[in-house]
Amino acid sequence: MSLDTFQQTVKNRVDSNLTQRINVLPDHAIKLKEAMLYALLIGGKRMRPFLVYATGEMLGVSTEDLHGPAMAIEAIHAYSLIHDDLPAMDDDDLRRGHPTCHIKFDEATAILAGDALQTLAFEILCDYSMSANNKRIELVKILSQASGYQGMCGGQAMDLAATNKQINQQQLESLHGKKTGALIIACVEMAIALTPDIKPEDKLNLIKFSKTIGLAFQVQDDILDVISDSETLGKPQGSDQEQNKSTYPAMLGLSQAQTYLDKLHQQALQALRTLPYNTELLEAFTDFVIHRKY
Ligand code: IPE
Ligand code: IPE
Ligand code: MG
Ligand code: MG
Ligand code: MG
Repeated sequence: MSLDTFQQTVKNRVDSNLTQRINVLPDHAIKLKEAMLYALLIGGKRMRPFLVYATGEMLGVSTEDLHGPAMAIEAIHAYSLIHDDLPAMDDDDLRRGHPTCHIKFDEATAILAGDALQTLAFEILCDYSMSANNKRIELVKILSQASGYQGMCGGQAMDLAATNKQINQQQLESLHGKKTGALIIACVEMAIALTPDIKPEDKLNLIKFSKTIGLAFQVQDDILDVISDSETLGKPQGSDQEQNKSTYPAMLGLSQAQTYLDKLHQQALQALRTLPYNTELLEAFTDFVIHRKY
């Protein structure tokens, strides 16, 4: 299947599953429900669900078993974006080409929409229809660690602490690895957790791939903040520079940041080449992550 077709399939699946999931909730807090749907559905590339399905299907996991992790990771990601845009964090007013959640609704509703999407993710992992009931706790563990102090939240805190400060490249790599890398790694880890049989060395190489791609994802995000425009990005271009964030272009300069991204690109492809699976789709995904325009 081509990258485009797979991307469209993933988007349709995730959007319809998440919409259904939220629509059946009772209406006692209708504004909150609307804010959750808004943040989830106004746009987004669905790259993390893509990675869950592409990795899982490559490893022989049934598509049915991958629906829960795909929905859960997107719910966590959407929550992370709502909170990332809040005035207390990046204070941005445009996301996925639309007003950010706190602008469209209000700050309190946006905070709660993020909270509710976060907990929804774990509810989904606990009760989605799947064949491997004994894997649920492992999935919850992977996703909670990747989302919390050891992962995305910890990385966001490091991002705030590194604003208006000079940090070294090792610290920036650790920051990016947590705030963005951890959720991307979790996509691959959840797919692996559902695989009945995988050799330890293949598992290691797949994790290595996900670490590289997770870091590359944020390096390209930093680069796009410098070279793109708000209309293409669907979020405010120049937001990082305006706030004096620690980013790769800020640290290395644009050209060196691009060279570093090329190096990560090659490393990710190299990790895939070692695997005894059909990695075509993951290779196309890698190229997409590196060359994406938004
Ligand atoms: C944006 O992620 C936030 C980062 C972690 C860099 P995406 O670029 O995946 O955002 P959407 O989901 O496509 O809007
Ligand atoms: C966000 O990093 C990482 C998250 C955990 C959401 P950025 O702050 O660079 O993401 P954008 O550029 O606002 O999408
Ligand atoms: Mg941020
Ligand atoms: Mg931001
Ligand atoms: Mg950014």
